[in-house]
Amino acid sequence: MRSIILGTGRAVPARVVRNDDLAERMETSDEWIRSRTGIEERHWIEPGERGLELGRRAALEALDRAGLAPAELDAIVYATSTPDHFLPGNGVYLQRELGIDATIPAIDLRMQCAGFIYALSVADAYLRTGGFRRILVVGQEIQSTRMDVSTAGRYTAVIFADGAGAVVLGGSDDPERGILAFDLHGDGRHAEKLWVEGPGSLVRPEQWPAQAAEGRYWLQMDGREVFRHAVVRMPESVRAALARAGLTTEAIKLLIPHQANLRISEAVQKELGLRDEQTYNNIQRYGNTTAATIPIALDECARAGRLAPGDLVALTAFGSGFVWGSCVLRW
Ligand SMILES: CC(C)(COP(=O)(O)OP(=O)(O)OC[C@H]1O[C@@H](n2cnc3c(N)ncnc32)[C@H](O)[C@@H]1OP(=O)(O)O)[C@@H](O)C(=O)NCCC(=O)NCCS
Repeated sequence: MRSIILGTGRAVPARVVRNDDLAERMETSDEWIRSRTGIEERHWIEPGERGLELGRRAALEALDRAGLAPAELDAIVYATSTPDHFLPGNGVYLQRELGIDATIPAIDLRMQCAGFIYALSVADAYLRTGGFRRILVVGQEIQSTRMDVSTAGRYTAVIFADGAGAVVLGGSDDPERGILAFDLHGDGRHAEKLWVEGPGSLVRPEQWPAQAAEGRYWLQMDGREVFRHAVVRMPESVRAALARAGLTTEAIKLLIPHQANLRISEAVQKELGLRDEQTYNNIQRYGNTTAATIPIALDECARAGRLAPGDLVALTAFGSGFVWGSCVLRW
């Protein structure tokens, strides 16, 4: 089976910024920009406009051209290096804005200018391995809010812009059509050659004083709501993953839950009817390391001889988004 593009869409902000507009704000000229870059005009959002809105419009167009309703999607893969918020990414916001009630996976990818290609490769892999029939793939970027539009920033400010494009990908067994291959690479030796330094985790609050004073620099959480959802979703998801493998909770040798909070892990264990020795917790020694909890725990279990070949291991996680999922595997 191959992945084919069923529909496409795009959206750009209404505001047009011409080279002459930039020349009023920095030392540059229409002639310099045209001769060096070919660019004559670009679209930038107005203050407060959301990148997600562009993604939503592009997505709706693509769905329309594909003749599909949002509810017919099985997944969203959303590529942007400039999400509206630091976390969660735009994927879940798009799911919400499209009115998709089903808890389909909404996957965020970064990968900057190669984001759309990488997103397509993920969607293609999901389609070909089965279980997914129609996947919305979005590439969206808001560069204008993170550019220095003074003369000091003229190298970049004349080049980058805002916009969104989307496709709906579906499976087909037509041998004449569809994606045939990908070639993907990375090379971190050049990471700082085109980058935004902050607000990454290296940026200290003193460097963002206004945001820090308003509390916006810090991670914020409605802990009760997170707890309430996590203790339902994690066991539900473990059961679903087991069912897909034709198994039940009886088969579990070891459960490794995301180490969010020991009380959550205990509630999940109880809900699944597992004994203490069937559940691995190490939050006591590490805290919640987010995406790292499960691989750290797996490594500990492996090194401690907790796993024998063939043991059925269930992994489950829940977090910001909300996003959640489980994996069952035989060690
Ligand atoms: C950025 C780019 C247009 C610069 O063009 P260039 O011909 O290499 O320009 P140079 O670096 O030689 O700079 C020439 C002069 O123009 C100046 N200059 C730079 N930006 C300018 C601007 N927007 N307007 C006017 N002058 C500018 C430079 O300061 C330099 O002045 P100097 O000679 O007094 O030092 C070019 O390097 C480029 O296209 N790079 C690829 C960028 C890209 O595609 N990015 C996206 C990747 S995903």
